[in-house]
Amino acid sequence: MLAALREVRGTFGLGVVAKGKTEQIVVARRGSPLILGIGDGEVFAASDVSALVSHTKNVVYLQDDDVAVLTPKGYHLRNLEESKVFRAPTTVDWDISAAEKQGYAHFMLKEIHEQPDAVANAMRGRIIEPEGIAKLGGLDAVLDRLADMDRLIIISCGTSYYAGLLGRYVLETATDYSVEVDLASEFRYRKLNFRPKTAVLAISQSGETLDTLAAVQEAKRKGALVLGIVNVVGSNIARETHAGVYNHAGPEIGVASTKAFISQLTIVYLLTLLLARRQRMDVNEGRQFIRELEAIPEKIQRILAQADQIHAVAKKYAQFSNFLYVGRKFNYPIALEGALKLKEISYLHAEAYAAGEMKHGPIALIDPNFPSMCLVPRDSSYEKMVSNIQEIRARSGPVICVATEGDRDIYRMADDVIHVPASDELFTPLLTVVPLQLFAYYVALERGCEIDQPRNLAKSVTVE
Ligand code: G6P
Repeated sequence: MLAALREVRGTFGLGVVAKGKTEQIVVARRGSPLILGIGDGEVFAASDVSALVSHTKNVVYLQDDDVAVLTPKGYHLRNLEESKVFRAPTTVDWDISAAEKQGYAHFMLKEIHEQPDAVANAMRGRIIEPEGIAKLGGLDAVLDRLADMDRLIIISCGTSYYAGLLGRYVLETATDYSVEVDLASEFRYRKLNFRPKTAVLAISQSGETLDTLAAVQEAKRKGALVLGIVNVVGSNIARETHAGVYNHAGPEIGVASTKAFISQLTIVYLLTLLLARRQRMDVNEGRQFIRELEAIPEKIQRILAQADQIHAVAKKYAQFSNFLYVGRKFNYPIALEGALKLKEISYLHAEAYAAGEMKHGPIALIDPNFPSMCLVPRDSSYEKMVSNIQEIRARSGPVICVATEGDRDIYRMADDVIHVPASDELFTPLLTVVPLQLFAYYVALERGCEIDQPRNLAKSVTVE
């Protein structure tokens, strides 16, 4: 096995059994996750801890080019050069119930309903209310360097990329930093002229996305301070970054990300508070920021209580084939995320646009068979969104609006309205995303799709 692996190029996560030696499994990894579970008189290997927790909570995260021989009595570890290596065992800090559906029809629905907790868990122990500041222990060691940076580049993929896009709006609104966002897969093609004070922030639920991992390694080579917002403890990206913050969202099983997204956003807000308070945000503004954030779990709960109404709306639209999602400013990334959710699990075509771009193309698509999902909370872009909606109506396009509770004017323009509680506009994305998740879920349900494991998609993408 060792001799063969020395010849192998590329990434792998392998389990090999030799004919006639069934009491022994040899496992090895490079690039792909591989975790050992150490039980009583038994040893397991898996690519994700959620497969192990029903058997044991004691796990060992293997690293690149580790080769382990497992027998019922235990395991021993070597690297490709045959030297012994030691990897410290760790204990999984969540329970098996987190990896079960607990009466929900799908993991995705369960995870949507766990979002009030996901926000609260991301904030737990990270707020110092009287001082109006956030404390992110994982960043303490690099805080001065971070505060001194002049450029922040956020890199990520999929849903995590949209968390990064929102991060740009939120960080730029409250701080003086210049923030860029890039897809990890494209970041690697750019010839970046890194200045010494550049920080890179990788956002990844799994901590294993290969493009994000490769971008992290590239940024490190170029001398950037590299940080992470990662959900899976001990994952590759968590280990490769200089410092970071864990989501504490618990395992996310549904392929389409929901609670991890809202958790990523929450941490982006905390990071914003942390940095803004060192710049131009005063203590009272900091405390107000915290109050808005702390009110979010209960507001999400109120949206979840409307699941039946959202189901009814979804049923009405489930037979359409194409959808347009539009939003502006803080809700533009949410339009992108909402369209992604629909694509992922219902296999319907949905595209998202910044509403200001409608006149540059998408408006040509609008007709009675092309519904639009319009994010129109009462915020600073409300009037402009209303004009966009009127343009859609003028072309007989069906309109679904996600609007603020109490906004009666919206009924005159919309075929269907889903309400979210009022909040300061900076925080509306934490609310508007929830109806879009439920809408996608119920459309997929009505269409009889595989919700937790959609075709052609994977939870953790460890290939380029
Ligand atoms: C896959 C998943 C998505 C996820 C993306 C990035 O496409 O299906 O839900 O957003 O990878 O994953 P990461 O683990 O890096 O956040």
